[in-house]
Amino acid sequence: MKKTVTALTLALGMLIPFTTFAKNNVVVVATGGTIAGAGASSTNSATYTAAKVPVDALLNAVPQIQNLANVTGVQAMQVASESITDKELLSLARQVNDLLKKPDVNGVVITHGTDTLEETAFFLNLVVHSDKPIVVVGSMRPGTALSADGPLNLYSAVALAADDSAKGKGTFVLMNDDIFSARDVTKAINIHTNAFASQWGALGSLIEGKTYWFRNTSKRHNKNSEFNIENIQGDSLPLVQIVYGSGNMLPDAYTAYAKAGAKAIIHAGTGNGSVANYIVPTLNQLQQQGVQIIRSSRVPQGFVLRNAEQPDDKYGWVVAHDLNPQKAKLLAALALTKTKDAKEIQRIFWDY
Ligand code: DGL
Repeated sequence: MKKTVTALTLALGMLIPFTTFAKNNVVVVATGGTIAGAGASSTNSATYTAAKVPVDALLNAVPQIQNLANVTGVQAMQVASESITDKELLSLARQVNDLLKKPDVNGVVITHGTDTLEETAFFLNLVVHSDKPIVVVGSMRPGTALSADGPLNLYSAVALAADDSAKGKGTFVLMNDDIFSARDVTKAINIHTNAFASQWGALGSLIEGKTYWFRNTSKRHNKNSEFNIENIQGDSLPLVQIVYGSGNMLPDAYTAYAKAGAKAIIHAGTGNGSVANYIVPTLNQLQQQGVQIIRSSRVPQGFVLRNAEQPDDKYGWVVAHDLNPQKAKLLAALALTKTKDAKEIQRIFWDY
């Protein structure tokens, strides 16, 4: 009996080191932004050139990530994110989708400029059919700055992408220790390291390489999405544009976008997505011409109520629910790859 127990203990002891050190494989896909930025001096935390540092230098600057996972890098592009168009967005989504289909890739991190980071993350959340972790990460300060936030953000993003507990929870944005859902995160402050926020709160925290979960997203995403990057051809989406609401507006922006080929216009209205009474006729005319009108709000929190101050049913308009104008624009473009029916588009805005 004693000999059997000893042999079993020895065998288990031999196994533990292998099971403990079986690291996941994470690919870092670099696109540019401030996380790849460089300033003239260490005190330039806001004055710098984005999209300068290549992916290998980003990874070499944080050697500790190799303790978390087997990490490799690819340079998908090197741009400031405000300059990303449908072409780059679709190409990136295809690249991420292809990587995640590989059995030896367990998760993907995308390093990205923070300006349109939320849009890229939301798009990946809608079109990449994988339950493997997809983590989009950026930084507010270049790596050359004192107290640069990029290295720790990258370390945390790799930890999240390597964590099996992150599977099936949607696409993430990792910034400043917070794990956000790609769906409802937004860049709320344009100069501080705690730049990103969600009115519904973070999904969890990532501290010292460990994940702490507090909630899940309740909306459709990734494998449960009716949209799939593999079914989207070409390098552009149906054209959708945004008009920012304010006092004393002119209708010209709406009509000019329609003339330019917009298939939907996001009205980033005041308050509850309100439309000035002198603008309503233009929107109704465009709706009747086949341009879908979608009411969002310029107000950062809350959500647009249907048929509250505007008779959406009567006009055939859609409300963007709690999606901000820039996310509503992306969802509208994807919806228009499937339907032009206002009721069906509204259903899509309830579901995602
Ligand atoms: N040009 C901005 C961008 O690439 C810099 C902002 C940043 O990455 O933090 O999004």
